[in-house]
Amino acid sequence: MPNERNKSHHVQRNHAIQRSASYDAETRIKMVEAIVRPLILKDEDYQTVMEKMLDNFNQGLGKDTHNNAKVKMFQTYVRSVPDGTEEGEFLALDLGGTNFRVLLISLKGQEVNMESKIYLIPQQIMLGTGTQLFDHIADCIFKFMKEHQLLDKVLPLGFTFSFPCRQVGLAHAILTTWTKGFKCEGVEGNDIVQLLHEAIKRRGDIEVECLAVINDTVGALMSCAHSERSCAIGLILGTGTNACYIEKLENCGLWDADYDDPKEVIINTEWGAFGDDGALDFLMTDYDRLVDKHSINTGKQIYEKMISGMYMGEIARLVMERLRKNGLLFRGRGSQELSTRGRFYTKYVSEIESDVDDGFKNTKQVFDELNIEEFTEDDCRIAQYVCQAVSTRAAYLASAGIACLLNKMGRPEVVVGVDGSLYRFHPHFHDLMMEKVQKLAPDIRFKLMLSHDGSGKGAALVAAVANRLRDEKAKRITDGMTGVTVQD
Ligand code: GLC
Repeated sequence: MPNERNKSHHVQRNHAIQRSASYDAETRIKMVEAIVRPLILKDEDYQTVMEKMLDNFNQGLGKDTHNNAKVKMFQTYVRSVPDGTEEGEFLALDLGGTNFRVLLISLKGQEVNMESKIYLIPQQIMLGTGTQLFDHIADCIFKFMKEHQLLDKVLPLGFTFSFPCRQVGLAHAILTTWTKGFKCEGVEGNDIVQLLHEAIKRRGDIEVECLAVINDTVGALMSCAHSERSCAIGLILGTGTNACYIEKLENCGLWDADYDDPKEVIINTEWGAFGDDGALDFLMTDYDRLVDKHSINTGKQIYEKMISGMYMGEIARLVMERLRKNGLLFRGRGSQELSTRGRFYTKYVSEIESDVDDGFKNTKQVFDELNIEEFTEDDCRIAQYVCQAVSTRAAYLASAGIACLLNKMGRPEVVVGVDGSLYRFHPHFHDLMMEKVQKLAPDIRFKLMLSHDGSGKGAALVAAVANRLRDEKAKRITDGMTGVTVQD
């Protein structure tokens, strides 16, 4: 049964299609629907996604199956969530997309103060060498420290590095493979903390000690758990997508450290790689195949490519181009921009779907930016329909992932900490996910909570504990009363 909103979209869409030019109404509806239909999936499809995903999760966790598993389920060495008593001044780094941030964070109970600065990572560095990348990072840290008069200090540093890493300790993270458009030579297979320390040493004018590396999903989980103790999943819906969750040690076949309380550890699923073994072939469309084919990591991160911000706009563009070529959009004309790969950004999808009335203010603005000279209101409606189909599938696919985790964890109540530009700026992502997760995990009470700057705060929280750990020169600290537990 379609809900009220879907129903009204349905009516609106038919109306739009009926009025567009050149074909008779019936044919137009059929043609537009045929082109968009592969993106519209049934609940059974999402159930199948969940089953396959659970199987993938278990393979990633299993001692004998991990090596060949596509979804890696990396253990993080972060074993419990904070309780708000962490204190001190910390530096944090956040690298996960085209922006790199340096942050100065002071923690005092629930009070968190942050100052931060964004530095761009130019394309040639994203595709250059690891040395160039880490020299650039060190240069940004230097500039930040200088600006904040920190050059004479040695502050503990937490690094949010949002790429798949095999961790062999809290401050040892070996990059397994680049994702999200990065491809710096000489980093895969190496410890990124070591590469950072080496770059800092090469400069010789700053002193920094990186005590912890975390994934952005872990940051989202930690920052929400700081105020919501039942937060047990961290989710990112941004340039990429990924989730982490709290798993029982008994389920972690690779756990090699102490088996003390709390008998849990945060697992970074790296679920973006789900489908890399063909598990999602049954629902992939031609559009998805084209996106994958033209990416710099063909065959990799299949689930991520169907969901996240780096790819969603391109999926919508490919659908619109197909409609146009069939004379169903822009009277077959369009523009050079619309025909250019990567030129239809995911933010356009959010903007177009944010139009609430028939004025189509945002949609027209987007068409303007794409230099589409001639368009009708029907074109606006059809573009909205396309964006809606693409983003709804993305939201539902992510929901299947979350529902799978919720069912696996089996806790009666879970808060999911969510961050990322797609989730933040898309007008319906939250609601679509609430609806679908409820349907797919009906026995579990859950909440999707927006994480506020988890990448900064989370890194600082984990570094705070690591710092205490180092100060106490203990191999392991389990501070039952006061918060985060990390494994050295
Ligand atoms: C990519 C990265 C992953 C990160 C996610 C969201 O999937 O591999 O580590 O968490 O993007 O930024």
